[in-house]
Amino acid sequence: MQKYYKIITFGCQMNVHESEKLAGTLERLGYKSTEDDEKADVVVFNTCCVREAAENKALGNIGKFKPIKKQKKDLIIAVCGCMAQQEKKAQEIYTKYPFVNIIFGTHNSYKFEEYLTDVLNKKIKRVYQIVKEEPCLPLEVESYRTSGVNAWVNIMYGCNNFCTYCIVPYVRGREKSRPMEEIVAECKALIAAGYKEITLLGQNVNSYGKTFNNGKDNFAELLEEIDKIDGEYVIKFLTSHPKDLSEKVVKAIANSKHISHMIHLPVQCGSDRLLRLMNRNYTVEKYLNTIDMIKKYIPDVNLSTDIIVGFPTETDEDFEDTLTLLKKVQYNTVFGFIYSKRSGTPAAKMDGQVPMAVKRERVNKLLALQREIEKVKLTRFLGQTIKVLLTERKEGKVFGKTDCGINVIVENVKEFKVDFVNVKINQIKNTKLIGEIV
Ligand code: SAH
Ligand code: SF4
Ligand code: F3S
Repeated sequence: MQKYYKIITFGCQMNVHESEKLAGTLERLGYKSTEDDEKADVVVFNTCCVREAAENKALGNIGKFKPIKKQKKDLIIAVCGCMAQQEKKAQEIYTKYPFVNIIFGTHNSYKFEEYLTDVLNKKIKRVYQIVKEEPCLPLEVESYRTSGVNAWVNIMYGCNNFCTYCIVPYVRGREKSRPMEEIVAECKALIAAGYKEITLLGQNVNSYGKTFNNGKDNFAELLEEIDKIDGEYVIKFLTSHPKDLSEKVVKAIANSKHISHMIHLPVQCGSDRLLRLMNRNYTVEKYLNTIDMIKKYIPDVNLSTDIIVGFPTETDEDFEDTLTLLKKVQYNTVFGFIYSKRSGTPAAKMDGQVPMAVKRERVNKLLALQREIEKVKLTRFLGQTIKVLLTERKEGKVFGKTDCGINVIVENVKEFKVDFVNVKINQIKNTKLIGEIV
């Protein structure tokens, strides 16, 4: 009888891709994917802990499976990912949710198959394996890819930056770069298999190669090597740390055939005092110089950023400085987050935590300003003919995106096929461009 699995993923693209590796294991074992809670024989929660909300959402979702498990005794439930990597949280899950069969962290994710088969063969009743990281790259598990035209490729794991608000370095360990030849080979195979977009993943892609490989590889060189691969495709990458984004990388993007003109450059806030407290290692002035340098080489760049509002001691003036920065840079997209206290990080112990009501007010103000900026920015496309990658047809509509990641609704498509087409933009609606094939 056909067995089914359901993977519920929280958090960033790194986790989305990790779930594809878990899916790869399950598919190899003969399982098929389902969206239906009741139909699944294996349910995996791949968790995130970057903010409290992400943890609460996961815990609530796991709780919902208690009655299902009561009905279906041989259902296997696994919890893994960043939240589980925290020893205290993992123990909480182990004791509060006795119906969870398998708990493991980020460093032994590649051992999922072993844990699952141990439980399936009734060798072990429950698996609880939260381990410290090993001084080597994790074993690559073959992915079952689920994100349509896009394929994710890890170029590095972990983070060495220790921004004072952030839990990621504690749950993902130290930076480890994959060898360049391995990454280029993976990209080649994906392009040959028909993927039109590849997104390179790392917490801080600009420090690629600094660790492992004796520091001989670097990100600019990696981009240049991938760009040499024949074919029609786009290469994107996430995420860049402003302190490390070099002129060499920006030039490599500007001179390339395939590297997207989309740069996500999280600034976090516009106050030098707070940037210091956050341990970000740049000033507003230095950040703006980097932005100017990018705009010089890549005039049509699509910039996006992350902002944290309500970091400890943030004053109204600090927040105004952030708004000023948004007006200066003119991002296409801003992801605004309310500061969330993460136990174990330095910022959690700082005085001057900002009340929730103030944080909410600030994030709303931030996002309202950005909506205005975005609307004005998009008008530059009106009447233009641009290259669009058609990505999917849903509810009679065809969706696509530009090389630099702007969403487009394409009308009058006779035959839908994942491919690059030229689209003339006629309209803008709710930050989406609307156009037709020419
Ligand atoms: N390595 C990436 C992604 C980190 S997590 C980077 O540095 O950009 C993604 C975003 O979550 C961060 O950029 C930050 O804006 C936000 N974030 C991290 N910790 C947070 C916290 N404790 N509270 C609120 N937002 C947080
Ligand atoms: Fe977190 Fe900073 Fe590392 Fe990004 S660079 S993952 S924000 S510690
Ligand atoms: Fe969350 Fe882990 Fe990503 S904490 S944001 S899933 S690295």
